[in-house]
Amino acid sequence: MPNNKTVVSQEQIAHQYEYMQFIARMNEDKAQVRGQRPKAFTQTFGCQQNEADTQRIAGMLDEMGYEKTDRTEDADVIVINTCAVRAHAESRALGNVGALSHLKKARPEVTICLCGCMVQQEHMPDKIKKSYPQVDLVFGTHALWRFPELLYRRLTGDKRVFDISGDAAGYIAEGLPVLRDGGTKAWLSIMYGCNNFCTYCIVPYVRGRERSRAPEEIVHELEQLVADGYKDITLLGQNVNSYGKDLDEQIDFSDLLMRLNEVPGDFLLRFMTSHPKDASHKLFDTMATCDKVAKQLHLPFQSGSDTVLKRMNRGYTAEHYRELIAYARSKMPDISLSSDIIVGFPGETEEDFEKTRTLVAEVGFDMLYTFLYSKRSGTPAAEMPDDTTHAVKQARFERLLKTQDETVQARQDAYQGKRLRVLVDGMSKGTEYPLTARTEGGLLVCCAGDDLKIGEFADVEIEKTSLRCLFGRSV
Ligand code: 5AD
Ligand code: SF4
Repeated sequence: MPNNKTVVSQEQIAHQYEYMQFIARMNEDKAQVRGQRPKAFTQTFGCQQNEADTQRIAGMLDEMGYEKTDRTEDADVIVINTCAVRAHAESRALGNVGALSHLKKARPEVTICLCGCMVQQEHMPDKIKKSYPQVDLVFGTHALWRFPELLYRRLTGDKRVFDISGDAAGYIAEGLPVLRDGGTKAWLSIMYGCNNFCTYCIVPYVRGRERSRAPEEIVHELEQLVADGYKDITLLGQNVNSYGKDLDEQIDFSDLLMRLNEVPGDFLLRFMTSHPKDASHKLFDTMATCDKVAKQLHLPFQSGSDTVLKRMNRGYTAEHYRELIAYARSKMPDISLSSDIIVGFPGETEEDFEKTRTLVAEVGFDMLYTFLYSKRSGTPAAEMPDDTTHAVKQARFERLLKTQDETVQARQDAYQGKRLRVLVDGMSKGTEYPLTARTEGGLLVCCAGDDLKIGEFADVEIEKTSLRCLFGRSV
C-alpha cells in the first residue's frame, strides 16, 4: 500500500549541493588564512541506522570541505547524532553535550550540532533551548537531508537553528553524498521508519512511517559498494521484512534479496532487523538458496511470554517464534541466530520472565542483546502499571545474562576444531592471533596465518573459543 512519503526532488537535492558549495568556498578561505582545512567531528549513539545516517552527514561535511577529526578540541563543527531508544542513550548524549560547554566558552566560533532520534521528540527542543545554550543547531531525523542548508543559515548569521519539522510519513532523499570508513564493512539502508508501534518503543514516533527505497537505487548502491571493494554489506531497516509494501512495484524483501544476490562480485549480504510477525518461510527459502546472503538471522523476540508479547503489541506468540526458528534451521542447519530481549517490561511476572529464560536456553543463540526496560514518554507502555521494583528487574536481568552466557559459550565451544570461511577485516589487540575476521554468521574470530590478508576471504580452523571470540589459524 503506497504511503504518503515525500520523495525529495532532485531540484531540492541540487539546492543542498549549492549550500555545500557555499560552505566549501567559505572553508577554502579559512584554509588559506590558517594553512589547514577546517575540521569536523562526528559522534554516533544508537543503532546501525544511526551510524549509516552519520555517514551521510560525514559525506556532506566532506563535500563542504571539512577534514575529519577525532578530537572535539580541534573541531570547527561538532555533530552528535543521538538515540532515544533507552534513557541511558539520551543521558550519555546529553552528558557529552554538557561537557562541551567549556569548549564553547573557550572557542565561541565552534558550531555544535545535535541531531537524530533524541531531538526529534516533541519535548526536546525546549529542553535544549533552556538547558544547553552551547548547542547551535538542532535537526531531527526528517531534516537530515537539509543539513547543508541549516548549517549555512547558522554560519551566516542565524542565532540558533532548530528544525525538527517534517511530516511523520517521512522522506526519501536520494543522491546525497556518503562518507564510509573504508575497510570491508558497509551499511546499506533499504528502508526507513517503522509502522509497528510496539508499545515500549519510541522509534515510530521519531523516525516516521515505513518507506522503502526504490529497488534500482539499492541495486545501484550495492554495485557501487562492491566496485569500491566492500565485501561485508548489511542491508538496514527497522523491519526489513516489510520492504516494498509501500512501493507501487510488486516486490518484497525476498525478491529484493534475489535481485541483490545477482550483483556480480565476491561479497556477503547481511540484513537487519527482521520482525517475527513478518518473517516468512519464503524469506528463509530465499536465504538458503542465495549464495551471497549470509546464513545469519537477527530475529528479536523481546519476551518468551505470550501475555507480555500481547501487551508489547508484537503480533506473534512464543510458539510462532519457535516454529520460525525450527523452519530456518531446517533450511540452514548452520544458521547463526541472534535476538533482542527486554527484561522488566511493565507487569512482567516471575513466571513471564522464566518463559523468556527458557526460550533463551532452548533456542541456543549465537549472540543476544538483552536490555532492561526503559520507560519512554509518549509510548503506550509508559502508561501501564509497573509495580516491579528496579532491584527485582536487575536481579532478573543478571539471571538472564548467566543463562545467556552459558548457552552462547556452548555454541562457541561447538566450533572447536571446525573449518570456517571468514572475511579478514582488521587487526586484533593480541599478538598470538593478530588479525580479526568475521564468519559468515557474523561471529568474531581472532586469527593467525602468514597468508591472511585484510579484506580477503580465507579458511581457518578454530583452535580455541571464548564467550565473545573464536580463535583460528589459516588452513
Ligand atoms: N526499553 C528497553 N529496550 C528497548 N528496546 C526498544 N525500546 C526499548 C525500551 N523502551 C530494545 C528492543 C529493540 C532494541 C533495538 O532495543 O529490544 O529490539
Ligand atoms: Fe536507532 Fe531507534 Fe536509537 Fe533511533 S531510537 S538511533 S532508530 S535505536
